[in-house]
Amino acid sequence: MKFYNILIYWYLQNNRELPWRKTNNPYFIWLSEIMLQQTRVAQGLAYYVKFTEAFPTVFHLAKADESTVLKMWQGLGYYSRARNLHFTAKEIANNLNGEFPSTYKEMLKLKGIGDYTASAIASICFNEPTAVVDGNVYRVLSRYFGIKTPINSSAGIKEFKTLAQSLIDKKQPGTYNQALMDFGALHCKPQNPLCTTCPFSGSCVALEKKLIKEIPVKEKKLKVRKRYFNYLVMVTDDKKTILSERKGKGIWQGLYQFPLLESETIINQKDLMASDKFKALFPKQTTISLYNSKEIVHKLSHQHLYTQFWIVETSNSDKATINWSEINKFPVPVLIANFLEAFQLKM
Ligand code: ADE
Repeated sequence: MKFYNILIYWYLQNNRELPWRKTNNPYFIWLSEIMLQQTRVAQGLAYYVKFTEAFPTVFHLAKADESTVLKMWQGLGYYSRARNLHFTAKEIANNLNGEFPSTYKEMLKLKGIGDYTASAIASICFNEPTAVVDGNVYRVLSRYFGIKTPINSSAGIKEFKTLAQSLIDKKQPGTYNQALMDFGALHCKPQNPLCTTCPFSGSCVALEKKLIKEIPVKEKKLKVRKRYFNYLVMVTDDKKTILSERKGKGIWQGLYQFPLLESETIINQKDLMASDKFKALFPKQTTISLYNSKEIVHKLSHQHLYTQFWIVETSNSDKATINWSEINKFPVPVLIANFLEAFQLKM
């Protein structure tokens, strides 16, 4: 038997009776699908009833004040969903004659409608075979096929969309999509899935290989690491400084920088001057001052660099080989380029 036959057979016996399942009106399906994102059906239900009573057509929603819509959304969270819903209702009422677009591609043009919502509405209301991939679908498919590609990676997102699309029942795509979502929510649950009574138990890879607890795989988002950078910006009497190339692997490889003293936390001038690296670099008498009283936070994807630029004035230094007049020729990270731009104006 085909995957969708087993699934739909299960659905016919187990589906939930939900108010939006009694209609093919894209306005109502749209409302329900937006509400059910990041929200459990049990919670979304009351809001759906309240909204459809207050705004029985897209024109009613379009005419409402945004504050009224937001107030009614209160408690559902992710308020941009409500703002986009209202914005798009006005677009449909005012520019599309109140007619909801009838294809996946056209729906994607509307604010707040992405792949998931467009697939759901196009399949449920217009029989377009576009597969929905939500958290439930990821779980069911990754377990059944034993797929370990992280579901939140770009490779995973593509792989599962293609797979879901290849499994769809083209004759009843809306039923297939809702069946898969319901099967994930009610049967192939995140914890304690009902494997002993599962219609797929004969061919589920995760069950056979005892991987139910390990699948789906999610990529751990790296925690942002905080680092504390102290750049030592030397200015000699003969207008020279120290600048050197960053060695080793990393995003700034090959770029130039001032001597860098990394600390465990934000440090003050006294601790900076007491450090061995500072003393080695500047054995002579220097005048030191902090250029930026508030640390500059430079954000990279997995690191936040809390940065202080220290101006170190001294008569001369044999390590200072770069003329300030030449400094703009060197490739430097944006963090340093921004500093240089501001600092040179004051020199
Ligand atoms: N979750 C979000 N939309 C759903 C739908 N149409 N059916 C089942 N679960 C859902």
